[in-house]
Amino acid sequence: MKVCVIGVGYVGLITGVCLAEIGHNVICVDNIDGKIEKLKNGISPIYEPDLERFIKKNLKSGNISFINDIKSGVENSEIILISVGTPSLSNGQADLTYVENVATEVGKYINNEKVIVNKSTVPIGSGDWVSKIISESIEKNNSNKNIKFSIVSNPEFLREGSALGDTFFPERIIIGSSSKKAIKKMLELYKPLIDQSFDWPSDIPRLLPEGKNIPVVISDLASAEMTKYASNSFLATKISFVNEIANICEKVGADIKKVTEGMGLDSRIGPKFLNAGIGWGGSCLPKDVSALAYTAREYGLTPEILNAIVSVNKNQKNEIVKRVQDELKIVKGKTIAVLGIAFKPDTDDVRESPAISIMNSLIHLDASIKAYDPIVKERPKSLNEKVTLCKDAYEAIRDADLLILATEWKEFKHIDYSKIKNLMAHNIIIDGRNLFDKEKLQSLGFKYIGIGR
Ligand SMILES: NC(=O)c1ccc[n+]([C@@H]2O[C@H](COP(=O)([O-])OP(=O)(O)OC[C@H]3O[C@@H](n4cnc5c(N)ncnc54)[C@H](O)[C@@H]3O)[C@@H](O)[C@H]2O)c1
Repeated sequence: MKVCVIGVGYVGLITGVCLAEIGHNVICVDNIDGKIEKLKNGISPIYEPDLERFIKKNLKSGNISFINDIKSGVENSEIILISVGTPSLSNGQADLTYVENVATEVGKYINNEKVIVNKSTVPIGSGDWVSKIISESIEKNNSNKNIKFSIVSNPEFLREGSALGDTFFPERIIIGSSSKKAIKKMLELYKPLIDQSFDWPSDIPRLLPEGKNIPVVISDLASAEMTKYASNSFLATKISFVNEIANICEKVGADIKKVTEGMGLDSRIGPKFLNAGIGWGGSCLPKDVSALAYTAREYGLTPEILNAIVSVNKNQKNEIVKRVQDELKIVKGKTIAVLGIAFKPDTDDVRESPAISIMNSLIHLDASIKAYDPIVKERPKSLNEKVTLCKDAYEAIRDADLLILATEWKEFKHIDYSKIKNLMAHNIIIDGRNLFDKEKLQSLGFKYIGIGR
């Protein structure tokens, strides 16, 4: 099938690559020329394990192309996926400017019957709203006023860092539409994924057996849109809940790692998303929780649980800063090493990263911060310019009075404890992700502070 993906970010690029790999003809459109140039040359603008190899392969086979000309993308496809960003406005509402711009352009250039798919995470009701924008644009800008189109909501659930695996081997596919014809097209588009019948490189583990059937939930537009917000809000709730339990553990002398091990064995709870830490961040959970809370308020509801998880999350980051103050007393002039800048491992995404929020707070207390991340090498715009970026973990740790582990990258798990003991001025570690071996560090003479243990 001929597919156009508009917005080549984390979601658009990975979806485009996946659809090309399973045999479709995919045109990826973005309005950042530098991004398109890189992609044309097989260079990925984002970090995601194995992604570049799939980009190169599909460029070579001709299954994927990257352009900045939305007109050509729209005209030459039967299915159009919109995957532009939907960031938060200051009041928590989702900013739909990018979606609106794309919908207007689609209306302008649509030349025959098409299925328009919202892959961006959009507030409930956006499917109808996008339909209205396209219709108005057709009326205003298109010479053919009778062109038909249908709208589908197909929310994305990939996780940065394991995005390829999540896309090729999804746990479920959600398709919301009032058009039976559009739903049929979507089922055709995803057939190789639904029945896991695509070829897969032999040197990368196949996460699901060939022929396994992936559940597909078909619904109306609003239910599909709500499924995405409800899922992300539930995940954030799980983390905030466990962080609250961790804080209680700390007071009563319990170990959150043992507690969550016991909790996770209950199949009604499950072991995932039960890691206590410095809080959730990233490009999705914060904005999606805010947007759902905003929607609830629009309808006169008070989203008590959503409000509480946001507040617990904010507090969790503040608690780390307080712990630093408790340990160092005078923070001014002290050197603090921070390992990890990305909001989680295996991604270069720094949006709403708790590590950045903590570093900025400590800079305001006049600490001297040295930070290192295995992938984030350029200073994120949101990071205070006084933070020194280091080329490796040991450079960041040298002469530090205190070390904060902020992102649980694999390479930090294997850090040389004796070496860091010798490098640090004072041996205090705040393990913000409960990654390190507490007993071993304590036996070496470190003061170890974990989360809830
Ligand atoms: N990142 C994730 O892990 C993730 C997971 C699930 C869902 N989502 C949702 O998917 C959507 C996209 O997220 P993302 O992280 O991929 O965003 P992103 O910011 O990484 O990418 C968006 C892309 O859209 C492009 N764009 C904006 N306006 C455009 C236009 N008019 N024409 C062409 N291109 C345009 C931007 O240049 C950018 O490259 C969001 O709604 C997000 O909530 C993201």
